[in-house]
Amino acid sequence: MSALKSLFVPARFGELKLANRIVMAPMTRNRALPDGTPSDIMAQYYSDRSDAGLIVAEGTWTSAVGQAYCRQPGIATVAHIAGWRKVTDAVHARGGLIVLQIMHGGRIGSRHIKPEGVDTVAPSAIRAAGEVFTDNAGMQCYDEPRALTTEEVRAVVQEHAKAALNARAAGFDGVELHCTSGYLPMQFLSSGSNQRTDEYGGDASSRARFPRECLQAMAEVIGVGRVGLRVNPGNTYNDTSDEDSAATHAELMRQVSSLGLAYLHVMRAPLAEIDAFKLARENFDGNLIINDGFGDVSAAQALHDRTGDAVSFARHFIGNPDLVHRMRRGIPLARFDRKTLYTAGAAGYSDYPLSALAK
Ligand SMILES: Cc1cc2nc3c(=O)[nH]c(=O)nc-3n(C[C@H](O)[C@H](O)[C@H](O)COP(=O)(O)O)c2cc1C
Repeated sequence: MSALKSLFVPARFGELKLANRIVMAPMTRNRALPDGTPSDIMAQYYSDRSDAGLIVAEGTWTSAVGQAYCRQPGIATVAHIAGWRKVTDAVHARGGLIVLQIMHGGRIGSRHIKPEGVDTVAPSAIRAAGEVFTDNAGMQCYDEPRALTTEEVRAVVQEHAKAALNARAAGFDGVELHCTSGYLPMQFLSSGSNQRTDEYGGDASSRARFPRECLQAMAEVIGVGRVGLRVNPGNTYNDTSDEDSAATHAELMRQVSSLGLAYLHVMRAPLAEIDAFKLARENFDGNLIINDGFGDVSAAQALHDRTGDAVSFARHFIGNPDLVHRMRRGIPLARFDRKTLYTAGAAGYSDYPLSALAK
C-alpha cells in the first residue's frame, strides 16, 4: 500500500488539523426533519464516517429563504443547533473533524418547500430553468425570484456570519461557503444570473464581491482559519451560465487569496474545458482540497504531484462508512443504491455496514 501513503499523511489547514488527507465531500441527503432540524440518524451517519481527515457536512441553509430542498438541514434556529450538536459530539467522540457547508439556495427555491409567505430571492429577477422535487406537490418549477435590494444583500452577508457563529455553537470545527452548483453565491458570481447595477453586479470583480464579503463576515466572527470556500469553475448545473467562468473564478480566487482561509475546495466540472486545479494553484495561495471522481490511486498520485493538498470523495463514502480504513487496507469498495440517495429514513443512509476488518 506504500503507493497510497500520501493519503495518510496528516495536514494542517488553518486551525484545522487533519489526521489524513481523505476528505468526505459535502452531500445533501435530505434526512433532516421538515423544519430543518438534524435527525438522530444523521449523528449515526456522520459518526460512522469520522475516520475521514475532514468531514464537510452537507449544504445547510442560513435562513428559511435560502432553503432549496425538502428535509434539507438548517443552521438558523436553537433546534437546529441542538440537532447538529448531537452530530458533532458523535464525530468528535470518535476523534473526527467536521465543518459545515453553509448554503443559500437563492433562486433555486420553491414555495412548495418553504414555509408559507417565505420569498425566493436572487441577485436579479431571472428564473432558473428546471424543476425540483417537493414532498407536498411532486416536481415543481423553480419560483420566479425577487431581486434583492442592496440593503438586503448586505443583510444576507450578515446572515452568513450568524450561520458561522451558530455552526460553532453547534460544535463544528469550521464552515465552508458553498459557491458552486448555481446557488446564491454562484448566482452572484455568474453573469447569466447577475444583471445588477449596484456594487454587487457588473464586471467579474464586482460579481465576486458577494462571496468574498460572506467569507470575510464569517471569518470575522469565527476566525479565518476555520473558514473554507468551495468553487466549481465551468459548472452549468441549475441553469448557471457565465461569460467566462475561468476568468471569473480566477478573479474570485485572487480576491480571497490574501484572506488566509483554511482551504479552497475545488471541484473540477466533468464537461468543463477548464483545468480547475491548475487555475486554483495559479490564483490561490493556500491549501487546496481537490474533487473530481477520484479513486485511491488517482488521489494518491494527485497528492504526490502536488495537484492538491487533500482529496475529497463523495460517492465512495455513501456505501463505505469506513472508506479510510478500506483504502488503507486495500479492502474492495462497496457500491451504493441510487434509489435511497434522497429518501427519508435510515435505509440506504446510515445502514451501510462497516467492512468485516473494521469491526
Ligand atoms: C448525493 C449527492 C449529494 C451532493 N450534495 C452536495 C452538497 O450538498 N454540496 C456540494 O457542494 N456538493 C454536493 N455534491 C457533490 C459532491 O460533493 C462531489 O463534488 C461529487 O459527487 C463528485 O465527487 P465524487 O466523484 O467523489 O462523488 C453531492 C453529490 C452527491 C452524489
